[in-house]
Amino acid sequence: MTLYEEPLTPAGSAKPAQGETGRMFQMITGYWVTQVVRTAAELHIADHLHAGPATARDIARAESLDPAAAFRFLRACVAVDLAACHDGEHFTGTPLLETLRTDRPGSLRDLALWGGMTSHWRPWDRLVEAVRSGEAQAPAVMGKDLFAYFAEHPEEGNRFTAAMSAMTEGVAEHLADVIDFRGHERVVDVGGAAGAFVQSLMVRHPSLRGAVLDLPRLADAAGSSAAAAGVADRFEFVGGDFFASVPAADVYLLKYVLHDWDDESAVRILRTCRESLHEGGRVLVAELVVETEDATGLPPLMDLNMLTLSSGGRERSRPEFEALFHEAGLRLKRLTPSASLVSVLETVPA
Ligand SMILES: C[S@@+](CC[C@H](N)C(=O)[O-])C[C@H]1O[C@@H](n2cnc3c(N)ncnc32)[C@H](O)[C@@H]1O
Repeated sequence: MTLYEEPLTPAGSAKPAQGETGRMFQMITGYWVTQVVRTAAELHIADHLHAGPATARDIARAESLDPAAAFRFLRACVAVDLAACHDGEHFTGTPLLETLRTDRPGSLRDLALWGGMTSHWRPWDRLVEAVRSGEAQAPAVMGKDLFAYFAEHPEEGNRFTAAMSAMTEGVAEHLADVIDFRGHERVVDVGGAAGAFVQSLMVRHPSLRGAVLDLPRLADAAGSSAAAAGVADRFEFVGGDFFASVPAADVYLLKYVLHDWDDESAVRILRTCRESLHEGGRVLVAELVVETEDATGLPPLMDLNMLTLSSGGRERSRPEFEALFHEAGLRLKRLTPSASLVSVLETVPA
């Protein structure tokens, strides 16, 4: 079968792709859809259409767009199931588009926006170079690594933090289901960003006292997030560097932190936690765990995301995690999968 002998549908279309050629066409043009979603997020299309049916002219007026281009954009949104149009003029939003609404809990809007920003989009443009060299491409396109870039570009840094919070909010309940707390413990979310993870645990366990240790620029985001979660009176933000020191705790959470770093750096972070851990304490690592055989689904692709974006970052298998823990003076007590793709690796001093 050759191209155009079968009906071609874009990635994200409600109609499934036909045959191998159709599927490959979707893969080749997948980035068109990434940018349609990012642009829909940028232009608040979900918010506009949630308020009621709108014409391209209405949206163009609200967002300062070229009206003819706005119509062409909305027509493409219909093709990827973000919108519907019944009379050739008035557009309505679909349930899929609703996930990009600004005011919706668990909104994916920040993730969609960050997905199209320099720090995410441009390193992926150099995946070939990443695979050739084994090196992150953030320095090649931005002149520095990801977190140093965020320090100089707070708008992108804040968007990244919000995107992380959205991803964490989506899995926090599932992780909380498999974590057992013993009472009045002090929990520190190391590299916890605005604190979405620890704060959701604090909501569920009213006797927990929680803190986030992250870079000082995250203080305001963490404070607002704690207030919104109703846990501000039990929450503390500590600005610092997890390679240098972390506040003492009964339980450390490290979610999506070790995957940003090479083995040596990951061991340094774990050692810092090990050194300040209270007697009888635990270090809980929440990460994707790559199967050693038959790795499928998200983890191998997230691993490429880490290869491309973060210096030395990677997703790891159970034996690779065990090797890190051993080097840091910890041992894996149990690995518990959750109802999400993220697993909890519970470690204690060796
Ligand atoms: C991938 S994000 C994970 C955020 C959060 N744990 C989550 O899962 O939503 C990694 C976090 O590590 C923080 N970070 C990076 N370098 C750090 C350092 N040297 N000390 C403390 N935090 C750091 C970043 O600011 C960011 O919030």
